[in-house]
Amino acid sequence: MSRTLVICKPDAVERGYVGEIISRFERKGLRLVAAELRQLDTDTLGRHYEEHVGKGFYDDLVAFMSRSPAFVAVVEGPEDTFAIVRTLMGPTNPAAAPPGTIRGDFGTIMTENLVHGSDSNESAEREIAIFFPGLA
Ligand code: RTP
Ligand code: MG
Repeated sequence: MSRTLVICKPDAVERGYVGEIISRFERKGLRLVAAELRQLDTDTLGRHYEEHVGKGFYDDLVAFMSRSPAFVAVVEGPEDTFAIVRTLMGPTNPAAAPPGTIRGDFGTIMTENLVHGSDSNESAEREIAIFFPGLA
């Protein structure tokens, strides 16, 4: 078994897609371990997106991710659950994401791509510790 961090980003909460997104993961066979609607602050986002600090899109990313509440969740499944989640999400740019993926079905804007998923088992462990330290 393994776990990964999922965030339904503020655009997904604002547009009412949290249920749709979480339902796709559940129907795939993954299960919720923890979940909460949460207003994300700049410090937490700096830790979460530490590999992007200083990049050209970073300020826009933080402004977007903190503009309204996000739905933060831990999902569990077989080994490499992070990869299953990433497959269902689709590529980063919704305009190029194929139909059938979350980003491909519901998005058009690069920053506002609805959902985050950890990109490795190591990232998942690090990110879960940031948002749900009690789960470690
Ligand atoms: P995420 O971390 O949110 O799951 O997304 P990802 O792995 O698919 O993409 P990543 O490269 O980690 O980028 C993090 C988020 O930053 C925004 N972004 N904007 N304007 C741009 O060039 C740009 N590049 C990235 C997106 O919201 C992306 O999901
Ligand atoms: Mg990423």
